[in-house]
Amino acid sequence: MPHDINEQLDRAAAILKRAKKVAVLTGAGISAESGLATFRGAGGLWEGHRVEEVATPRAFARDPALVWRFYNLRRVNLAAVHPNPGHFALVELEQRLGDGAFTLITQNVDGLHHAAGSRRVLEIHGSIRRVRCSGCDAIEERGIEALPELPRCGKCHALLRPDVVWFEEMLPQDIWLQAEEAAQTCDCLLVVGTSAVVYPAAGLVESARINGAQIIEVNLTPTPASRGADVVLLGQAGTILPDLMRRLT
Ligand code: APR
Repeated sequence: MPHDINEQLDRAAAILKRAKKVAVLTGAGISAESGLATFRGAGGLWEGHRVEEVATPRAFARDPALVWRFYNLRRVNLAAVHPNPGHFALVELEQRLGDGAFTLITQNVDGLHHAAGSRRVLEIHGSIRRVRCSGCDAIEERGIEALPELPRCGKCHALLRPDVVWFEEMLPQDIWLQAEEAAQTCDCLLVVGTSAVVYPAAGLVESARINGAQIIEVNLTPTPASRGADVVLLGQAGTILPDLMRRLT
């Protein structure tokens, strides 16, 4: 595979220009240049935390205050965080393609795609800007307002939890089905800033590929998704994606 980045960008642009339907799968890497830590690797969010202590239903049952301290910190940090050129490039791509031809599937819970202006966004792992009642399941937008260490539901007084998908939990089925459909029916899947190791999200790449989509990957490093990709663009999403958009005009 040629490594010249300009050549690769041109190949990726040609694929995108031909595609009538595009799906995008993003992970924590697209928000890295906004100042948010990714999960895996040095300095990652899971470093210093045992995942099962802060991101499983059992952790929440055992010590909800600890879990909320972890999520409240992430919520409060969002006040100083803004979408970066990578997020905005995907808004531009959606505008180019128009309704019905673009779906953005994100594993991120930071809400930055919405903040940038993306419209068709499937948050398959939920959002830390929302809370969900552990008793009555009511969901509420709470933005990034500071929440008490043990927030309670205004209706039934049960504990509220972040409206995110934890390890060992099912993905929200309606959203997931839409994500699967988008992956299976697109001509091109653009995979950005994900280590592609967490399932079922990572399975969307294979699902798209076996249904005939071409795969373009943008990441700092190769991942398990790189092997089946048609083009791998190694670099920062905030630089690569705007460059790719410029080549579409
Ligand atoms: N541009 C492009 N890619 C980047 C950048 C950047 N600026 N910075 C980091 N990356 C890449 C890393 O090389 C890595 O492959 O982003 C990826 C981030 O991987 P993870 O930290 O594993 O994040 P993600 O793939 O989103 O994790 C999936 O795991 O713990 C769960 O629920 C959590 O949704 C999350 C899921």
